[in-house]
Amino acid sequence: MTNYTLLCSQLRALTEGVPYRVTNLANAAALLWQAMDGLNWAGFYLIDNGLLVLGPFQGKPACTMIEVTKGVCGAAVREDKTQRVPDVHQFPGHIACDSASNSEIVVPIHQDGVVVGVLDIDSPLFDRFSEEDQKGLEAFVRTLEEIVF
Ligand code: SME
Repeated sequence: MTNYTLLCSQLRALTEGVPYRVTNLANAAALLWQAMDGLNWAGFYLIDNGLLVLGPFQGKPACTMIEVTKGVCGAAVREDKTQRVPDVHQFPGHIACDSASNSEIVVPIHQDGVVVGVLDIDSPLFDRFSEEDQKGLEAFVRTLEEIVF
């Protein structure tokens, strides 16, 4: 089980004094990739002109632009709510960037109370993400919002 308290401290340490968003998001993705088992993708999509555009990530090359009307990422933006999906094949409209993905969690990211992007994590395991993972990843995103956005 990932120690999310430690992860948030590591994120603070890594980003301290670094005023570059892409740099900090790149290290945030690397940190998650290193700290969590059983992942095939971890990274960010940032909203630009109403589109979710691929940001820093770890894993295989992925879909570059996602409409907010589509996919698990789009649902997280529209509902402004974390989407924890135990089986992506049962999620209507799921976008399969990597056919290895079987479960997924997407957490919305805010700036000044508005959703500006998402953290997206995929796993080849079914039901990879627990309620505890959701709470930990939401805390990780709150930390990012403080530091990076
Ligand atoms: N599965 C996502 C698309 C992004 S990839 O997982 C990296 C979705 O349905 O929105």
